[in-house]
Amino acid sequence: MKAIALPHYGGADALELTEQPTPAVAPGEFLVRVKAAGVTPGDEKLSIGTLDGIMVTHFPLIPGFEMAGVIEARGFGATEFELGDEVIGFVVKDWAQNGTYAELVSAPARTLARKPASWDWLHSACLPLNGLTAYQAIKRITIGEGDTVLIHGAAGGVGTVGVQIAAARGAHVIGTASERNHDYVRELGATPITYGEGLAERVRRLAPEGIDVALDFYGGDAVAVSRRVLKDPARVASVADITAPDQGGHLVWARANADELIELVALAESGKLSITINRSFPLEQAADAWRMLHADGRTRGRIVLDVDAT
Ligand SMILES: NC(=O)c1ccc[n+]([C@@H]2O[C@H](COP(=O)([O-])OP(=O)(O)OC[C@H]3O[C@@H](n4cnc5c(N)ncnc54)[C@H](OP(=O)(O)O)[C@@H]3O)[C@@H](O)[C@H]2O)c1
Repeated sequence: MKAIALPHYGGADALELTEQPTPAVAPGEFLVRVKAAGVTPGDEKLSIGTLDGIMVTHFPLIPGFEMAGVIEARGFGATEFELGDEVIGFVVKDWAQNGTYAELVSAPARTLARKPASWDWLHSACLPLNGLTAYQAIKRITIGEGDTVLIHGAAGGVGTVGVQIAAARGAHVIGTASERNHDYVRELGATPITYGEGLAERVRRLAPEGIDVALDFYGGDAVAVSRRVLKDPARVASVADITAPDQGGHLVWARANADELIELVALAESGKLSITINRSFPLEQAADAWRMLHADGRTRGRIVLDVDAT
């Protein structure tokens, strides 16, 4: 099969289009023919070694954690799906090696759910990782009807989903973004606010009684700023700042969870959750897709690899 792989740690320049053996399918796993694979900052972080000490990585490494595709084969005891079923997955295992930037990926049942019927392959491929990350952060910290919620990085991949889930739960959401994304954040269901110096004062002007819950989907000093405006400084969850627990908050590391993925698919099908695609690239242009993650003037929306979607 064709796959993008790295022979060793490296960034975009180390990505190569290679021929790889069909992945082994363990008991309880499915072989999925990938239609599209989402591109996330985490793919690059893993490949350049930033996640060393957190995740075990083997080379050659095929990057990619999320995808949409079609069930091609089943391992022993894998009964949840039939051949030909259309699925999405956050394909994370005990170690990273055979990721989703490939024509085929083997995926444990716990990583998969049926694809949203009304979504195309490209959008579906971008739901699992960011969707589960936002969902699990919200679940950890709990958001109730009428809560005032501050979301850092509201226009980003994780933030886009987080704002919509929080708004669907009846929260008043304040979302940080650069000004070019304020209309977008408003459309998602939040009051936009510019990040950077003076953020705490701007938040206090919008929410003089204080914030009930803060979600950090960016990193930087978001946890520290949140603690200054929260009614209870412990009610902050970060997905991007590993020092969050040292600061008295929560760190959330996304896990594969089929039941939660099914809930996200239901939200998607009900129209309460949408995702914007910025640009798709063919598999062989994965390096350009990674360079675009850092491109000046990149506005919003996901980057996705079209493996065999169109
Ligand atoms: N823990 C986990 O399991 C997990 C899972 C997924 C992702 N993550 C991490 O979560 C983070 C976000 O991922 P993503 O895919 O959403 O990234 P993304 O799509 O690049 O979004 C990041 C957002 O951060 C905003 N931003 C930039 N500078 C900022 C600043 N100084 N203050 C506040 N916000 C700022 C940007 O807003 P504008 O575009 O409006 O400027 C952008 O929309 C990454 O660090 C990623 O690695 C963690």
